[in-house]
Amino acid sequence: MTDRFLKACRREPVDRTPLWIMRQAGRYLPEYRELRQKVDFLTLCKTPELAVEASLQPLRRFPLDASIIFSDILLPLEALGVKMTFNPGPKLAEPVRTRAQVDALESRPAAEAVPFVGEAVRLLRRELDGRTPVIGFCGAPFTLAAYLVQGEGKEGFGAVKTMLYREPATLAHLLEKLTAAMIDYLRLQIAAGAQAVQIFDSWAGLLAPMQYESFALRWVRAIVDGVADLGAPIIYFVNGGPHLLEDAATSGADVLGLCWRTPLDVAAVRVGPAIALQGNLDPHALFAEPAEVTKLANDVLARVAGRPGHIMNLGHGILPDTPIASVEALVAAVQATARRDAA
Ligand code: CP3
Repeated sequence: MTDRFLKACRREPVDRTPLWIMRQAGRYLPEYRELRQKVDFLTLCKTPELAVEASLQPLRRFPLDASIIFSDILLPLEALGVKMTFNPGPKLAEPVRTRAQVDALESRPAAEAVPFVGEAVRLLRRELDGRTPVIGFCGAPFTLAAYLVQGEGKEGFGAVKTMLYREPATLAHLLEKLTAAMIDYLRLQIAAGAQAVQIFDSWAGLLAPMQYESFALRWVRAIVDGVADLGAPIIYFVNGGPHLLEDAATSGADVLGLCWRTPLDVAAVRVGPAIALQGNLDPHALFAEPAEVTKLANDVLARVAGRPGHIMNLGHGILPDTPIASVEALVAAVQATARRDAA
């Protein structure tokens, strides 16, 4: 098994830099689009055989170093009684705006509410047969709250920020419930065989440093504390967070996932050597010509060459129209690090 991904999470020596791509299973792949012609997104997520097929698709094309379970950060909210649709973005049947609505959220065990996720992880482990490790994931509480309070994805997520200022205790109560649900959800995935987990904080960057500690980071820390005993490395991805880096690095996670906005060498100095780094090629860089993609990927790699603990990735999810040739150029650039290191 290629365990360079898990080794890099732990800042152990590796034969070359590992690579996986956030949202690697998805619409930039023709075979994913074909699968989606036949079945809607929620059915895909809820049918273990189909979810595993979506997870495996990128690995058949590219020699990636990890596989991520196919699901969505919002799906486990069904355990709280939240109803949603996707087209393609999420839309909740009802936004959660009041204290009474927060109080009314249920807390069913993930194993009961979303059993298909555990089944998919088990099946994926079996299908991979040790070829790559499996990454499980969840949304960070603030990011989940941003969708729950807004009811859908919306630039700026004004509704959750309004709640933060008008009813901070209601928001704290919501975050507390989400934290408990995500601990249970990650534990389910790790028990089913996930060998690492990533916490996606896609919207933490909406917070100023003064608010980030109490409305985002402390809840992420609670999740890290709540699953650490299981021994799976934890990646904490913070999008839009150049102003939050030093704080984000204290979450307790093994790896800090960086968005594309901060050069890796600058981030490395700011957070110090005690945490691995993941990232951070700009997803839009993959719209350059392949030769330019190679240069841009090499630039990212060079910024942390020799620093223990780097996992190559994009600085946010891969975009739906990304050319396959660009992904191939990225993969080749990473593979060339083995030859460089050996030379
Ligand atoms: O390879 C993988 O990473 C697949 C699993 C995965 C999906 N969503 C599948 C998906 C993961 C890890 C996610 C995470 C996710 N979902 C995040 C965090 C990462 C980030 O991008 O910031 C967020 C914020 C969501 C919420 C969400 N789900 C949005 C905003 C959308 C629509 C637009 C988009 O970005 O694709 C979705 C739908 C979704 N989730 C799709 C996929 C493949 C597209 C649905 C389709 O096939 O029509």
